[in-house]
Amino acid sequence: MFDQAQRLRQIVPVATDEIRPATRVITITSGKGGVGKSNFSLNFALGLSACGKKVVVLDADVGFANIDVLMGQTPRRTLADLVQKKATIWEILELGPYGIHYIAGGSGLRDFLTLQPDQFEYLMLQLGELQGFADFLIIDTGAGMNQGTLRFILSSDDVIIVSTPEPTAITDAYALIKLITRESGRLLNMQLVVNRATSIMEAKQVAEKLSLVSKKFLNFDLKSLGYLLDDPKVSEAVKQQVPFFVRYPDSPASRCIDQLVRKQLKMPTGVQSMDMGIKSFLSRMRQVFRN
Ligand SMILES: Nc1ncnc2c1ncn2[C@@H]1O[C@H](COP(=O)(O)OP(=O)(O)OP(=O)(O)O)[C@@H](O)[C@H]1O
Ligand SMILES: [Mg+2]
Repeated sequence: MFDQAQRLRQIVPVATDEIRPATRVITITSGKGGVGKSNFSLNFALGLSACGKKVVVLDADVGFANIDVLMGQTPRRTLADLVQKKATIWEILELGPYGIHYIAGGSGLRDFLTLQPDQFEYLMLQLGELQGFADFLIIDTGAGMNQGTLRFILSSDDVIIVSTPEPTAITDAYALIKLITRESGRLLNMQLVVNRATSIMEAKQVAEKLSLVSKKFLNFDLKSLGYLLDDPKVSEAVKQQVPFFVRYPDSPASRCIDQLVRKQLKMPTGVQSMDMGIKSFLSRMRQVFRN
């Protein structure tokens, strides 16, 4: 019988990589640990999704993955199943609030650098399937000095560095920016998010300070995406295991997420550049992991 699906396939051309919109890959990292990367990654993804974007969050903080914990979910499958070739990308994609999808880190995977070549290639092929499925792939990583994380950073279209206003976090953010600019052979779109600022003024001062030293000593233009205010609702939401953007949509932190998302969406999209998208991200991953 001539079924509906068959008729649709004849009318609608099958999407190819050329006509699918590029999936923009954004890696979230920091110099110092515990500055709010995972909370930012998840709530930023929810904000993008609330604006109609299709978002996948990849929890790449191997060994310490906790995106699922922040949502109070118990994933059936994780990234560990993928690299062990026990599942496909479609089988490990989990559904979160507001229609976001995420890939849980899980335990059993210690370091991307220890993957066998066939496991790594399977991971690359499976991630490549996301091309056209998502507008954004948000990668939450551990602190950036880890060699595996550094390779994710060096392969991304966009990198967001999270720092708090504490001098230790700022110093470590600068050290990471220095490492990235030294290791990267191309111009990265690196942006700063100041988290836990006590005022707009404080956030601006931190961004200016880091931008100034990056320009002066590294000749690098560090852009500022914006800031998140220090907000007790963030910790409350973490304890309740509901993302603050969902649990407390009118809180100061959620309003900051709104602003950050709006700024992100105003930026030129990956579609305008041939060099952006998941395919070029994955080909850079293959290069940097080989070295
Ligand atoms: N804007 C904020 N206001 C108040 N508290 C915050 C804010 N952002 C983060 N926190 C607090 O910081 C804690 C750590 O945040 P999170 O787990 O997101 O950091 P991280 O950078 O991902 O840590 P790690 O380096 O261990 O992966 C949260 O549990 C929360 O209590
Ligand atoms: Mg984290």
